[in-house]
Amino acid sequence: MNSSIVKTSLKPYNTFGIDVSAQKILNWKSEEEVEVFFKGGDRNVLVLGGGSNVLFIKDIDRTVVLNRIKGIEIINESDESVEIRVGAGEDWHEFVLYCLDQGWGGVENLSLIPGCIGASPIQNIGAYGVEIKDVLLRVEAVSRKDGRKEVFGNSSCKFGYRDSIFKRSHKNQYVITAVVLRLEKNRKVNVSYGAIQSELEKMGVDSPGIRDVSNAVIRIRKSKLPDPKLLGNAGSFFKNPVVTREKYQSLKKRYPQIPSYPVNDDQVKIPAGWLIDHAGWKGRRFENYGVHEKQALVLVNYGGATGNKIYQLSEKILQDIAERYGISLEREVNIIK
Ligand code: FAD
Ligand code: EPU
Repeated sequence: MNSSIVKTSLKPYNTFGIDVSAQKILNWKSEEEVEVFFKGGDRNVLVLGGGSNVLFIKDIDRTVVLNRIKGIEIINESDESVEIRVGAGEDWHEFVLYCLDQGWGGVENLSLIPGCIGASPIQNIGAYGVEIKDVLLRVEAVSRKDGRKEVFGNSSCKFGYRDSIFKRSHKNQYVITAVVLRLEKNRKVNVSYGAIQSELEKMGVDSPGIRDVSNAVIRIRKSKLPDPKLLGNAGSFFKNPVVTREKYQSLKKRYPQIPSYPVNDDQVKIPAGWLIDHAGWKGRRFENYGVHEKQALVLVNYGGATGNKIYQLSEKILQDIAERYGISLEREVNIIK
């Protein structure tokens, strides 16, 4: 059975700390509950994990369901690796810490990302050279149309940079109930992302293991990303744009110091944080909301801001970046209307 929560404010359930209300808030604690719920036909509910990638613009005139399906289970094990099935409602970072305790490698670069594991395949969470797609075997989901369970293998999820089928053709059509991952017992650590290497040097670590990499990532993240418990935010508000090499070369002529990362022979990724910073937005505060002072890609709520104000600020930034650089930024955060 679904258990109702009396309180209807969504403020505690979104890391931006936006105070809108929901008609009703429910918890799902098992896959069966989800199946039963949707067997009666499509239901217009909003599913949330940790609320760390959403911006609420107004009161939600439907039921909000918090996915709290727990459980970590080993389904296969060898000397080299372990396959584990994780309930969608498990907290991501606690799960990473659990893996470190077991000596299982593969998710250490993704330390300290907020939210639940059920949302991790939706935008293919990524940080410091690793994405969830690198360790994900399959996603278990329930169709919102008829309550039937479906399983999506890694390639069916069509993962890309901050992208998957769950943001495109399958958007709002499934509730993810579990994720199956394969982790390694003798992981060769990935320190390809420059900032990790320099942080490990500062820490005095020569031959890092998975826990050292996790600690380095945590230190880097804490130095620039605001803690949502102290300052409302949803991480990067925009995605880093991918442009043609030609476009990049023309920008480079105008802005010789513009950073870039190769994507393939024809395309490069440009850090949106640099574009926004260079356009003078970093640290700008408007009443009780603004652009974070240490990371221009992060919009913040200093307390009491409405989602609409933050959305309007994102509009202004989008327009300004388009006019200055001829680049259309795309929001990473899900705008919930
Ligand atoms: P929510 O915000 O609750 O939901 C996100 C979307 O998914 C919503 O549309 C929701 O309806 C849908 N959804 C949620 N759960 C389910 C489900 N079980 N089934 C179907 N739909 C569902 N992201 C990165 O990729 N890399 C980072 O480095 C990173 N750093 C961050 C740092 C900070 C400080 C913050 C606040 C956010 C950061 N994020 C990062 C973004 C965010 O943490 C991730 O996108 C995370 O996976 C969102 O999880 P969640 O449970 O909070 O999702
Ligand atoms: N930069 C600036 N000014 C800023 C911010 C960034 O000039 O204010 C430039 C710097 O040149 C810096 C470069 O941008 O070297 C990249 O910055 P950073 O390493 O902080 O990474 P990012 O591109 O801003 C991305 C992800 C993060 C992820 C980190 C680490 C996106 C949209 N964001 O940020 O993910 O944690 O890399 O891998 O891809 C998120 O998705 O919410 C998120 C936080």
